[in-house]
Amino acid sequence: MQPADLWQQWEQLKHVESLPDALLLPIARMIAAGVLSALLLLLLIVRPQTQAATNTPKQREQRGYTREEVAQHTAEDDLWLIIRHKTTGKLQVYDVTAYVEHHPGGDAIFSNAGADCTAGFRGPQHPPTVEDLVEEYCIGWVEDA
Ligand code: HEM
Repeated sequence: MQPADLWQQWEQLKHVESLPDALLLPIARMIAAGVLSALLLLLLIVRPQTQAATNTPKQREQRGYTREEVAQHTAEDDLWLIIRHKTTGKLQVYDVTAYVEHHPGGDAIFSNAGADCTAGFRGPQHPPTVEDLVEEYCIGWVEDA
């Protein structure tokens, strides 16, 4: 680099009003970009959770179902069960789809898929705590019970 080039660069630098001003703009841009990225990341994390939350049966409006309607849901990715409530004695409908893969008893959960499985559910294999657990999946009651 020639002394003349250096002199020219120095002359150009003198046109920048002040060093803090020259630095501020890129820093402000970096902060804005950082804040935007953080917001975007937050949106990406929060959105799927909200979607999952609205899909859980508990968020659904409880209503009555006919046995025919319940009987349509017998698949691994769509399993409904009817269980007589231990205290109220009412026949309730449960969408246990989300629980199928976690069931410690495996495919036994399908033994009365889409129908009344109270007898199997109240078997000796289940501790009393499953009564609370299953309520998470309640979507309503049997209309024609
Ligand atoms: C037709 C209905 C069902 C049948 C026949 C059934 C059957 C079984 C069987 C055979 C086991 C024993 C697994 C083992 O120890 O090797 C078991 C365990 C278990 N099931 Fe079910 N199940 C049914 C529905 C459900 C539902 C709807 C839930 C909850 C939403 C549930 C929760 C559990 C839990 C938590 C265990 C582990 C119990 C323990 O050892 O502490 N089951 N089930």
